[in-house]
Amino acid sequence: MGQTAYRTHHATEVSEALVGQKVTLAGWVDRRRDHGGVAFIDLRDSTGLVQVVIYDEEVARPLRSEYVVQLTGEVRERPEGNENEHLTTGKVEVVVEGLKVLAKADALPFQVSTALENESENKLPGEDVRLKYRYLDLRRPAMQYNLKLRSDMTKAARHALEEMDFTEVETPTFIKSTPEGARDFVVPARLVPGSWYALPQSPQLLKQLLMVGGVERYYQLARCYRDEDFRADRQPEFTQLDMEMAYVDQEDVMAMAEKVIAAIWKTQGHEVRLPLPRISWQEAMDKYGSDKPDLRFGNPIVELTDYFKDTPFRVFQAPYVGAVRFEGGADTPRRQFDAWQEWARQRGAKGLAYVVFGQDGELKGPVAKNLSEQERAGLKEAVGAQNGDAVFFAAGGRESSQLLLGAARVEIADRAGLLKPDEFAFTWVVDFPLFKRTDDPDDDDVAVGHSKWTSMHHPFTMPSADWIDSFDQDPEHAMSDSYDIVCNGEEMGGGSVRIHRDDIQDRVLNVLGIDKDEAQEKFGFLLEAFKYGAPPHAGIAFGWDRAVSILAGASSIRDVIAFPKAGGGRDPLTGAPAPISDAQRAETGVDYDPDEDE
Ligand code: AMO
Ligand code: AMP
Repeated sequence: MGQTAYRTHHATEVSEALVGQKVTLAGWVDRRRDHGGVAFIDLRDSTGLVQVVIYDEEVARPLRSEYVVQLTGEVRERPEGNENEHLTTGKVEVVVEGLKVLAKADALPFQVSTALENESENKLPGEDVRLKYRYLDLRRPAMQYNLKLRSDMTKAARHALEEMDFTEVETPTFIKSTPEGARDFVVPARLVPGSWYALPQSPQLLKQLLMVGGVERYYQLARCYRDEDFRADRQPEFTQLDMEMAYVDQEDVMAMAEKVIAAIWKTQGHEVRLPLPRISWQEAMDKYGSDKPDLRFGNPIVELTDYFKDTPFRVFQAPYVGAVRFEGGADTPRRQFDAWQEWARQRGAKGLAYVVFGQDGELKGPVAKNLSEQERAGLKEAVGAQNGDAVFFAAGGRESSQLLLGAARVEIADRAGLLKPDEFAFTWVVDFPLFKRTDDPDDDDVAVGHSKWTSMHHPFTMPSADWIDSFDQDPEHAMSDSYDIVCNGEEMGGGSVRIHRDDIQDRVLNVLGIDKDEAQEKFGFLLEAFKYGAPPHAGIAFGWDRAVSILAGASSIRDVIAFPKAGGGRDPLTGAPAPISDAQRAETGVDYDPDEDE
């Protein structure tokens, strides 16, 4: 990594090849051990650890954990029996001849030591403490790894896109609102009292303007801002790898995006086989109860609506009945099945009916006795279960039941240890509806427009070819040219073919209940641009934090962001968000009242 004023080598560059040579190293005191007048110190830098040996007690005495030191010494082989096979530098050590403390350190609020033997003591504190002292948390190798991985992925993506003749263009973050279905964060404009900038929910409209502006292939690592409810896979500010192309169709964009994915995954030695599989949105919902199915394992939902059409069981007399197999679930204790009921209720379901197929094939469980003789007889085959399995059922509305079974499917797999973080199951989800109902109770998106329909993706999404003429007559069934890329049950990205004709755009806005004046006020600039020769265009954006967290096997996107926000959008490190002073209020004009200040 190169020599600097402070060091000749990095810790992990100290190898057997250097035995007998002098090196100068700099880094943190990871850990010290004392053995009868000799002090052993693990010196840590961004590359890892190397053991240094200090014979001079005067030199060793003042050293504490996380002191920053610079030392010079001779590399030697460790005496036989003292090698550490867990360390890349485990066969050597540096015998200190001179040592300088560059900075002292107070006792740390939590242990960041990387020593493998210490792993069990190395209990992490709660996330709020980790985030308050994020600069210490980042010293941990796991976090160093994540940040490096992120940087490597970025480099690979840039390289892949540049190879495909993409141009990186920066778009502004002080803009007018871009409707992506979330609330805007806004910034007061001091120079225009009472006016506000919106921070972009994505560069969507700007990248479309770039297409009108003749940039045929655009990309950007774009910071996006969305005022949404907090979740593990969401941040109020996050990054997208945002891409747009002119003179392309859906297939072109998908093929391009696949190349980028393969290049990124390759950085970690994973060969992604192309083309990636595809599933229609409807099939994903029917089989996996999710628009982002986890395909690391099978076990699809089985629809039993027909099977139970004459059922005597009141609960199953419903518009939809479905089931999911719980392999080997027959031995589950009663109280655990009760816990599953609670699990389902917390998701807003009335319950989670179940049956059990005993090892002897006998059908048991509280629901079994409610079924007809015929239903009992054919059930195992209808569900594809085996003796020793349990089966969960959901009955009620199609979509809510499928969502419940989809969640149960993942929960069952999780408990069985099938969600391996180092296995990657990609799929495209295609054939999305163009619109969805605004009154969908499961949805926390902010509706764009004022009708009972809102965009499934966003208002600039092209209806699919066979719906171009009729989408406004039948918004419920109209389909779109949009696509999501899903990996391991997470929506890693999404995009669409865009509307480039103003007549189609007008009709879509009409369905959304956005009249001409409002459209003009909100995105008139885009509609106007389309009047001056807009090429057909399409694009996609990867949620970059999500892509990194998936490849890193992290359980939250917060683990792959250097300084993420905690719950409620708080930053425990800087204390943001915070009240502002009266002077700042006055200056920024946040309290501006047009009636008063006229
Ligand atoms: P979309 O809204 O689907 O599409 O966003 C693209 C991807 O961004 C990620 N993402 C998030 N990641 C972290 N925190 C959030 N709050 C968050 N919200 C979204 C997801 C998602 O798939 N302009 C369109 C893209 C296009 O059509 O080209 C857009 O923004 O991984
Ligand atoms: P009940 O007859 O209401 O006691 O319900 C019998 C079983 O069906 C219980 O295990 C409930 O949890 C379950 N149950 C009730 N409503 C539903 C539903 N809509 N879908 C699936 N299971 C249900």
